[in-house]
Amino acid sequence: MDPADRTPVLLVTGASSGIGLATCLLAASRGWHVVLAARGPASLQVAATECDAAGAASTLVVPTDVGDDAAVEALVAATLDRHGRIDAVVSSAGVVAYGRTEEVPVDVFDGVLRTNLHGSVNLARHVVPVLRRQDHGTLVLVGSVVGHLTVPSMSPYVLSKWGVRCLVGQLRAENRDRPGVGIAYAAPGGVDTPIYRQAANWAGFAGRPPPPVSSAERAARQVLDRVARPRRRAQLTWANDVVRFGHQYLPRVYERIIETSFAIGATDLARPVPPTDGNVLHPREEGNTLDGRHGSALRDLVANARVVARTGRRPRS
Ligand SMILES: NC(=O)c1ccc[n+]([C@@H]2O[C@H](COP(=O)([O-])OP(=O)(O)OC[C@H]3O[C@@H](n4cnc5c(N)ncnc54)[C@H](OP(=O)(O)O)[C@@H]3O)[C@@H](O)[C@H]2O)c1
Repeated sequence: MDPADRTPVLLVTGASSGIGLATCLLAASRGWHVVLAARGPASLQVAATECDAAGAASTLVVPTDVGDDAAVEALVAATLDRHGRIDAVVSSAGVVAYGRTEEVPVDVFDGVLRTNLHGSVNLARHVVPVLRRQDHGTLVLVGSVVGHLTVPSMSPYVLSKWGVRCLVGQLRAENRDRPGVGIAYAAPGGVDTPIYRQAANWAGFAGRPPPPVSSAERAARQVLDRVARPRRRAQLTWANDVVRFGHQYLPRVYERIIETSFAIGATDLARPVPPTDGNVLHPREEGNTLDGRHGSALRDLVANARVVARTGRRPRS
């Protein structure tokens, strides 16, 4: 790369779908260099072609499983080989498994932790030394509101996101001596992406984003905003603050009301799902898209209420 070229270099994991894809497209529309990583090569290539069309200065596709430390090391090395520096990294790779703690098979349970938590650690392990050497750049870790809550039938995901939040604190403490290094944290609430339909599922019913539902594009704007301002507030919606308040200060009320309404608002009871590993152990590239096309949350809430009234069926806690 020409050393005089100061165009930002952005590396994104989970770049082929949802929030990661929207982040790449937004950066591309600003004319940035974009490095795209995820497991599935075909959907990653489609994403790169869309970024080129959106105006990216350049695109680099590096198929990578973030749970594989050596692969993440190679991803960072490939980025430095091409660009000589890294200005921003967004950790957006993520998978979900629904089901009670004892129901989710051990390989799937561990697989969620491997991608969401160990993947974030692997990325930090190889990115932070680069940012420290440069004394410049931001690592944005995408967590979730559930990294502050307990939620029925989402144990591995919830554990992984509490871990990501903790990792943010650790990294901030370890990098206070480098004012140019930013560690940012973004906690979305419900975002309409494919993650709910791609999920492993032993709960019996499809999941859906809980209201209020944001678009992947809106979440991407908020994520990129944190590249420039890493200490901006983590929560991406006001509703996150309401449920967090309930969880922390009104635990009995939270358990009785909010957990149940979260389960009903974040479930599609009219859509039974047979047990599936989803995309936890292997990519399902045909499901990787920008948005989840879940439609109206209100419509699903009404449909759920009808199912409960008619059959007494409820999501299990
Ligand atoms: N959607 C929401 O409502 C919501 C709410 C809170 C937090 N979040 C968080 O936001 C982030 C993005 O989620 P999303 O909703 O955009 O999901 P998504 O649309 O399903 O996209 C997930 C991306 O991660 C990639 N991925 C999965 N496992 C991977 C692995 N082991 N290594 C590398 N890449 C991997 C997927 O591609 P391959 O399968 O091809 O690898 C895909 O590109 C996640 O961390 C999620 O937990 C989402």
